[in-house]
Amino acid sequence: MPVSHATSPRLSDLGQRARLPAVAKLMAKAIETPGLLSIAAGMTDNSTLPVAEFVAAAQALAARPGDPEYLQYGTTQGRPKLRRLLADRLKFWEPTMAGLDLDPRFLVTTGSQQALYIAVQSLCNPGDIVLVDRPSYFAFLDIATSLGARPVSLPYDAEGRLQVPALEELLGQLKRSGEVGRVKAVYLVSYFSNPSGRSLNEADKAALGRTLAAHDVIVPLLEDVAYRELYFDTPHPSRSGLTLPEWEAFPRMYFATLTKPFSTGAKVGYAYCTDGKWLAQMLAIKGTHDFGSSNYSQALFEEILGRGGFETHVPKVRRGYKLKMQALHEGLVEGGLPDLGWTWDIPTGGMYLWLRAPEGCDTGMDGDFCRACVQSGVLYVPGDLCFGDRPENNWIRASYGVLAPDQLREAGRRLAAVAQRFAR
Ligand SMILES: Cc1ncc(COP(=O)(O)O)c(C=O)c1O
Repeated sequence: MPVSHATSPRLSDLGQRARLPAVAKLMAKAIETPGLLSIAAGMTDNSTLPVAEFVAAAQALAARPGDPEYLQYGTTQGRPKLRRLLADRLKFWEPTMAGLDLDPRFLVTTGSQQALYIAVQSLCNPGDIVLVDRPSYFAFLDIATSLGARPVSLPYDAEGRLQVPALEELLGQLKRSGEVGRVKAVYLVSYFSNPSGRSLNEADKAALGRTLAAHDVIVPLLEDVAYRELYFDTPHPSRSGLTLPEWEAFPRMYFATLTKPFSTGAKVGYAYCTDGKWLAQMLAIKGTHDFGSSNYSQALFEEILGRGGFETHVPKVRRGYKLKMQALHEGLVEGGLPDLGWTWDIPTGGMYLWLRAPEGCDTGMDGDFCRACVQSGVLYVPGDLCFGDRPENNWIRASYGVLAPDQLREAGRRLAAVAQRFAR
């Protein structure tokens, strides 16, 4: 880097608070280390990326008579036809919304990550609280903390069931400490979650809404369904908070994406909002970000969704992830990990195994275990990054998104071999 003699600028509070996400360090490690098998990144499977669907869509756009408007700026909210097609998808998932005119309440974004960022920006001041899953999606936790908000974990038991008495206790504590008014949102990754692979069952989702309402904590629900499409055999049966009566009184935003189930590189995500005023403010913020996400990517998706290319492709992706999950699981089992006291659920969708190491095995990024794994050629996401508060350092998020099945099996064996050494 060239030497600069100029003084550095005085940064804003946000400029000072922001930290390069810890995973960026992991990605750099993966690139620097030849032969490393990375089960860290939540990237998708190159072998099932929909090349033919994109080629057909690009050709169809090029063959359209008239101006190539798709290569021009679009609108901040997103292309009207795409919003209509996305509204149809939402109606497929939530059939009771079938008669509603939904597309005016859609916002198309640069991945759902941008929608999540703008949502938190539109709701939270520094010091505000967001209630989150335990564990939660670490890049959302990074958004909240970089904007000065404080993630506070909802209470779940070891099976991922919501603990209503503990939730009552938490809300009571927040009231007694005078902080309950600082709770500005609830964030759930409710289907095949990143990192836990779990889905929130409908009774628990309903109980959460009911309990919050009983305590007058009527704050926006941010429901992130990034992996809802990525079930292996059958969709998860829970309805979204959009259609559960227990959430009716709450403003709700439903965050979905065309990246994880289809193409991460096209980076099109979207949000549906139940509240017109909130959406208008989100649009105003997005306008200052970029006055609209890639018009071309959106036009491609109009073609792809319009011709049924999404529907025909996604089943292949689902089958691929199921096989890859099994390969990683088998590698871990063959390496003897369960005999060492490690536990995990077998997910029924999504892209992650969430591995619990025995107490005392520190899987943190700067610890000996993580270093030994990198030396042995396997990289994972340390689970402590996935806790909004009171981090636990004996978890690993293992992604089967990128690697091929034989590599995943090998990555599992390498991880288990390190665990064998540390168990002695
Ligand atoms: C739970 C969850 N939500 C949102 C995102 C953001 O994805 P994208 O911006 O590609 O839509 C991710 C990406 O990993 C995720 O895991």
